[in-house]
Amino acid sequence: KLPQRVKIVEVGPRDGLQNEKETIPADVKVELVDRLTQAGFANIEAASFVSPKWVPQMATSAEVMARIARKPGVIYSALVPNMKGFEAAVEARSDEVVIFGAASEAFSQKNINCSIAESIERFRDVAQAAKQHGMRLRGSISCSFGCPYQGEVSPESVADVVQRMRDLGCDEIDIADTIGVGTPKHVQAVMQRVMKEFPMERLSGHFHDTYGQALANIYASMEVGIAIFHSSVAGLGGCPYAKGATGNVSTEDVLYMMQGLGIDTGIDLDAVVDAGQFISQHLGRKAVSRAGNAIAAK
Ligand code: HMG
Ligand code: MG
Repeated sequence: KLPQRVKIVEVGPRDGLQNEKETIPADVKVELVDRLTQAGFANIEAASFVSPKWVPQMATSAEVMARIARKPGVIYSALVPNMKGFEAAVEARSDEVVIFGAASEAFSQKNINCSIAESIERFRDVAQAAKQHGMRLRGSISCSFGCPYQGEVSPESVADVVQRMRDLGCDEIDIADTIGVGTPKHVQAVMQRVMKEFPMERLSGHFHDTYGQALANIYASMEVGIAIFHSSVAGLGGCPYAKGATGNVSTEDVLYMMQGLGIDTGIDLDAVVDAGQFISQHLGRKAVSRAGNAIAAK
């Protein structure tokens, strides 16, 4: 039985744009976030307070957060790797901070320059501070279905990081397929394993579409009870520390599927299509969304 309602977290402004080579003006990012707010998302990942040497594109995060037109009740999230990032996120009035770890040691080193155990220690301070500030805390686990550096990742190692993030007090935990290698049965096995450690209602699926499996993986996740998914308008994205990784599953494709299944998302698909065309025009390329391009062409 599929859920009647799902929450879609729009990650395009962060995960989608972080890997772009050309600096995108803050104006454009602000307009993108505002269009997504208007489209009806309850949660938009809008910023990332990381080292600008590591991810230069996100250096405008404070400016973007200062200028977006916030809608009451909407959660504007920001990634933070450490206390320095946390302080910037508070200053920027983020509603939620996202600590991001990995189920693979090799990826943890490449992405945040420390081991999984060290990352959890760093996150401990962030988690405590988030609670003190009454902020929502989300944990993201990269490479939950495979790693570009070490290959296979076992469901046990994902479950281990889920436990540690649960113990830090995460309100929501993302099971992320950074390089898009997961397939439906594998995804169900991992989701069913991690549900033993953390409430299913607060687990999310973050799928990249590198191997064209993302929609199938979302459907498979819904079959085992997951009802929160991340997606990126126009299929924007790719991870700077995962070579060859392409974008998140496109939001337009996900919404089109949900509409067809009669699953409520509260989001206006046409407005998302327009937002996708807007950002794609700015980037000078066609949106990476089948449904988005088909609807835009009508
Ligand atoms: P490091 O070099 O080990 O850290 O990097 P450090 O503490 O030695 O700091 C180095 C420099 O960065 C210092 O500046 C710090 O002040 C500065 P310097 O003294 O050289 O001038 N610095 C910062 N500046 C701004 N904001 C901060 C910050 N922290 C330090 N928060 C560090 C460690 C974690 C900082 C670095 O590795 C980093 O920023 N990594 C970010 C990587 C990243 O953003 N990756 C993409 C996001 S994850 C993702 O996309 C996956 C996800 O979508 C899920 C999925 O699909 O898998 C979430
Ligand atoms: Mg991602």
